[in-house]
Amino acid sequence: MRFGRVIISPWAALVAALVNSASLSAAPLPEAASNVHEGVASCASSVCHGKVSKDPSATVWLNEYRVWLRQDYHSRAYRTLQTAQSEAIARKLGLPSAAGAKICLDCHADNVPSEARGRRFQISDGVGCEACHGGAGQWLESHAELGTSHADNIAKGMYPTEQPLQRARLCLSCHLGTKDKFATHEIMGAGHPRLAFELETFTVNQPAHYEVDADYRERKPAIAPVNMWLAGLAVTSMQSLELLQEQWFTRQSLIPELSFYQCHACHHPMDDLRWAPEGAAALPPGTVRLNDANLLVLIEVLAILDHDKINELSSGLQQLHRASMESRSAVLNQAKALQQVLEPVARQVSGANYSTERLRGLRSGLLKAAGAERFRHFTAAEQVFLAVETLSIAVGDNSRLESALDAWFKSVEDENAFVPQQFAVLAKQVMGAL
Ligand code: HEC
Ligand code: HEC
Ligand code: HEC
Ligand code: HEC
Repeated sequence: MRFGRVIISPWAALVAALVNSASLSAAPLPEAASNVHEGVASCASSVCHGKVSKDPSATVWLNEYRVWLRQDYHSRAYRTLQTAQSEAIARKLGLPSAAGAKICLDCHADNVPSEARGRRFQISDGVGCEACHGGAGQWLESHAELGTSHADNIAKGMYPTEQPLQRARLCLSCHLGTKDKFATHEIMGAGHPRLAFELETFTVNQPAHYEVDADYRERKPAIAPVNMWLAGLAVTSMQSLELLQEQWFTRQSLIPELSFYQCHACHHPMDDLRWAPEGAAALPPGTVRLNDANLLVLIEVLAILDHDKINELSSGLQQLHRASMESRSAVLNQAKALQQVLEPVARQVSGANYSTERLRGLRSGLLKAAGAERFRHFTAAEQVFLAVETLSIAVGDNSRLESALDAWFKSVEDENAFVPQQFAVLAKQVMGAL
């Protein structure tokens, strides 16, 4: 089934303009900007963001600190480094301690250099307010003054967390990695969990300390969940391609950095003969496949939408896979080329307005592809499941589909027990329940 071209409505054009105004690499990440990080204590007083409950008279809740402290995993990210699991990881890596190691602190805390740490900064705060909202050195005083706009704050170094592409880049800086920090296969081999991410699901799973209500909409754009999901798919694809051009992948070694590949290409029992041609790039059996989960799903989505970049993207991905059998420099070149094709696509899909009809079509298209065993690696299956769930919530029939979705979820719940055929059969059952 094919559907028409992505239609940009006037409303979506407005959102797209807002999105475009901040280009993908415009805002430096909180960790990279030179602003002083004043510490969570500077936000947390009872007259600021540390109220016991929501303040109905204010535009923002003002109990954000409580929500973060009590419910948000980010507030315990540093403490995680003090657990037995982290100690074991550190020991295997030959580190004296996890809580003292830069490679761990870079993602589990707001590990800015000492000259960027204010008086009340504490590394033990973990992933604190300024790890996402940017160092408050220039705006701590002014942002609470009457008449200050969000644009004023951004100009002083507040990070634009409301923009989908920028938010994706921020979250992925820790949930995937950057040129400066990365969860290598060595860290995984020592026992670190695999990093999985999907922007919309993770946005929902991080307990909200804000509400997109009427006054929020006056100050900031309200982004539809579907656009958040697509922004995540596109930026994850782009950031993965970007990382393939960095030292993590390009540095000389006999075996390349394995965390760029499909984990389960290697990590499954030898008598489980699951190889089959996958996607247009039919790699021979026994090939270790680059992890293309996000790109594969994005391409499937764009094909269903009959997007004009579809041929360029699918042949680009095929060439990337072919390059992965040649040399690191071939991969680097292809990654760069594909990243450039994706840039405008990322802006477009994160700003376009999709009708409910189109979302239904997208969902059945994805389910059909899943039923036809087009997603044979766990990481791609995981993304497809999350996509269909997000789409069902957006369409509004998720409660009616609950039992079918629950049954399907069982097939991606445990990556070690993943069976591609079972995933496909259950996808067909969801299709039947639509
Ligand atoms: C500075 C690094 C950093 C940034 C930026 C970051 N995270 Fe995290 N996030 C972490 C770490 C580390 C954990 C694990 C914390 C723990 O359990 O100790 C985590 C955990 C989470 C969890 C819980 C995961 C689970 O398994 O339940 C969610 C949800 C989440 N992050 C969402 C987000 C979103 C959404 C963003 C962007 C708005 C974001 N994170 C930005 C580092 C970061
Ligand atoms: C590239 C960023 C990154 C680096 C580097 C990193 N982590 Fe993590 N870590 C994360 C994120 C993100 C999560 C949450 C994963 C999720 O639940 O999706 C996490 C989760 C964990 C968990 C599991 C927490 C739980 O409750 O399940 C442990 C333990 C951990 N990290 C320890 C470490 C140690 C020790 C190091 C240093 C050797 C380290 N991490 C380096 C990003 C990172
Ligand atoms: C993991 C990233 C992350 C962390 C940590 C974090 N926030 Fe946020 N915050 C967000 C996101 C995403 C939004 C929603 C997008 C937006 O409005 O900018 C948000 C929104 C807000 C808002 C705006 C609400 C509105 O109506 O405009 C305030 C205020 C806020 N956060 C305060 C805090 C405070 C205080 C802390 C620390 C106690 C904190 N945040 C920690 C990511 C984070
Ligand atoms: C090219 C094959 C290959 C790929 C791809 C690969 N690994 Fe590995 N992995 C290995 C090998 C080889 C070992 C070492 C096994 C041993 O020592 O017994 C290993 C070890 C591990 C271990 C430790 C297991 C143990 O026995 O202690 C974990 C955990 C792990 N890998 C996770 C991952 C994750 C997560 C990914 C994907 C991001 C991944 N691996 C991708 C080959 C691979």
